[in-house]
Amino acid sequence: MANQRSRTNELRGRTGYSPRMDAMTTLNDQFRRELRDLRISVTDRCNFRCCYCMPRDVFGTDYPFMKSAELLTFEEIARLARVFAGLGVRKVRLTGGEPLLRHGIEWLVEQLVAIEGVDEVALTTNGSLLAGKAAALHDAGLTRVTVSLDSLDAQTFRAMSDVKIPVSRVVEGIAAAADAGLTPVKINTVVKRGVNDGQDILDLAAFGRQHGYIVRFIEFMDVGNANGWRMDEVVPATEIVEAINAVWPLQPADPTYVGEVATRYRYLDGAGEVGVITSITQPFCGTCTRARLSAKGELYTCLFSNLGHDLRALLRGGASDAEIEERITGIWQGRTDRYSAERTTVTLGLPKVEMSYIGG
Ligand code: GTP
Ligand code: 5AD
Ligand code: SF4
Ligand code: SF4
Repeated sequence: MANQRSRTNELRGRTGYSPRMDAMTTLNDQFRRELRDLRISVTDRCNFRCCYCMPRDVFGTDYPFMKSAELLTFEEIARLARVFAGLGVRKVRLTGGEPLLRHGIEWLVEQLVAIEGVDEVALTTNGSLLAGKAAALHDAGLTRVTVSLDSLDAQTFRAMSDVKIPVSRVVEGIAAAADAGLTPVKINTVVKRGVNDGQDILDLAAFGRQHGYIVRFIEFMDVGNANGWRMDEVVPATEIVEAINAVWPLQPADPTYVGEVATRYRYLDGAGEVGVITSITQPFCGTCTRARLSAKGELYTCLFSNLGHDLRALLRGGASDAEIEERITGIWQGRTDRYSAERTTVTLGLPKVEMSYIGG
């Protein structure tokens, strides 16, 4: 703790910036939704090609990924995160693409956990590189991880992730994260009709129960324009909950925080909890407190947006922290996004940023 505090002071000294953060700092958008979460994408690249996110026919070898000079440096990310914390952000999540592809990410974690006001720094990963990094991430101060895993069956895993990396590598990564104390470990499973909507759900639920992982089943979403989304491939969360409940009876549980994305259920026999993320059948825009920062430094106020606000230009153009703070304040105060709640056949056709670009 003493170390953490001196590191915090050292960082503040380095930038000379003292955010006007206090316990009550609140920035509201047009629907009185506070700015509380910052999801930071550190790269748009990934070593998987999940069919619902980066289908290989679109994200092929000639895909124009961001150049490394375009990416925010870790110093730039940390600087922005400090400004966001001053405006009320309490939770930071690192995403991608695959965030563990970014070399030296532990260093960024160290900077982020040292920011006053930030209560937790989490990371969403595909797990393929986690076994070798879990301990270092924990030592750097990372709070916990969420690992994407769509099936425990080798064939189905491969069909969904479209890589030769074996599912055992991801399972080892999850175990390493738990051993390192990056807990509670959560598992994100995107469910697609006819692909992993049967035994896979029960197998993953059993896996979570056995090891104490919190599995969250996600309704396949119409993010981006590349994944060929169709409503008839969405498995409604109610169906998933019923399937699990028929084997291991469940009881609804309260959210752990206001605006929690997952709806929680507790196993009646005491074997932990499971969740569903109902972006399609029961949108949760009303409590959405999430801002997203692309790896290039654009601020997005919705996962389904097509408009990013360029903060990198401010950073690299010599703007002061106060000026950046003012820009973010204006953007958040003008925010009216509620895409999932307004989803129609018309919105489906609108151009949207890809999830690998903006972060999940
Ligand atoms: P916790 O802090 O563990 O509750 O994390 P989280 O559920 O906020 O984060 P996570 O990255 O695990 O999110 C789970 C999944 O929910 C994401 O991968 C997305 O698929 C989806 N999701 C997260 N945030 C949003 C959002 O703002 N809108 C929509 N529509 N989906 C979201
Ligand atoms: N629908 C639902 N969830 C998705 N994810 C990526 N694409 C989609 C989609 N189309 C989730 C992955 C991962 C997180 C980063 O986003 O499961 O856990
Ligand atoms: Fe990569 Fe995650 Fe997208 Fe799969 S869902 S392609 S692991 S970023
Ligand atoms: Fe938030 Fe947009 Fe998702 Fe609604 S659709 S919950 S506004 S990110």
